[in-house]
Amino acid sequence: MNTNPTPIIIDTDPGIDDAMAILAALADPALEVLGLTTVFGNVSVERATRNALQLLDLAERPLPVAAGAARPLERAPAPHPDFVHGLEGFGEARLPPSARAPDQRAAPGFLAAEARRARSTGRPLTIAAVGPLTNLATALAEHPGIVEDVARVVVMGGAVRHPGNMNPFAEANFWQDPHAAARVLAAPWPVTLVSLDVTECARVYPDDLAALPPGRCTAFIASAAEHYAEFHREANAFHGCYLHDPTATAVAADPTALETRPMQLTVTLEGEAEGRVQETGTGPSIDVAIAANAPAIRRHLLASLANGTLP
Ligand code: BDR
Ligand code: CA
Repeated sequence: MNTNPTPIIIDTDPGIDDAMAILAALADPALEVLGLTTVFGNVSVERATRNALQLLDLAERPLPVAAGAARPLERAPAPHPDFVHGLEGFGEARLPPSARAPDQRAAPGFLAAEARRARSTGRPLTIAAVGPLTNLATALAEHPGIVEDVARVVVMGGAVRHPGNMNPFAEANFWQDPHAAARVLAAPWPVTLVSLDVTECARVYPDDLAALPPGRCTAFIASAAEHYAEFHREANAFHGCYLHDPTATAVAADPTALETRPMQLTVTLEGEAEGRVQETGTGPSIDVAIAANAPAIRRHLLASLANGTLP
């Protein structure tokens, strides 16, 4: 048993790969999930909040869910990508409505308060941000002390030396709120950037998920992943799932799963390259993932989902 798991909050827009990341993190002995915060992105923030509560019900873990931003800081909102994650975010899979209500605090205040509390216990918080970065940017503006309180922010987003997935340059989470991404990367807190450069190396396939031990959570993930695998068959010519968000949570649990290099980055805020990340040599230094142990990340995900912790 891990007696010193890393306290973590996942800021998320669930989302099929978000759901994999959340369920695996809940089962991961190296992590202690303190709660979830939600943001628009793969679905609306209302739907994201319902989905987060439903996932926690499925896992029988009644942790707090704090709802966050409904739209980007400055740019016009984009349509939700239902062709990637389905109309409700989990492909064709459906979960029963939750009887629980979201936390009364909005996501930025919740993140700041939990970060302060965790630091005071001597076990500072890691934030895994796996959606648009609007909540984190708002937390920086409204609660600037958060930069001192968190241990690390692991961001799934951007495409550094790799083509984007929204256009030739930009990755979806950065593209959906480039202003927020720029502020989060520029803030004086420790960021690990887990970009498409590494998340497109780690994949799972329907057979991997079908081979997991039977259970409510594994059945749900296998069912939701069918839609995601179909999307990748059409868009990326392989029938499986990129492990974008699960790579971020796996790295929060085990930083050695990645090789990083310090880089100074800028985010393009508008125009056809909106959301693009470039190495500019100015601004704070960020740990940027340049290589990932993709087989280890896949094994980590499957082992967490199979370890008997989840119903
Ligand atoms: C990111 O965008 C979303 O579709 C995924 O959940 C992931 O967070 C990948 O670009
Ligand atoms: Ca996501």
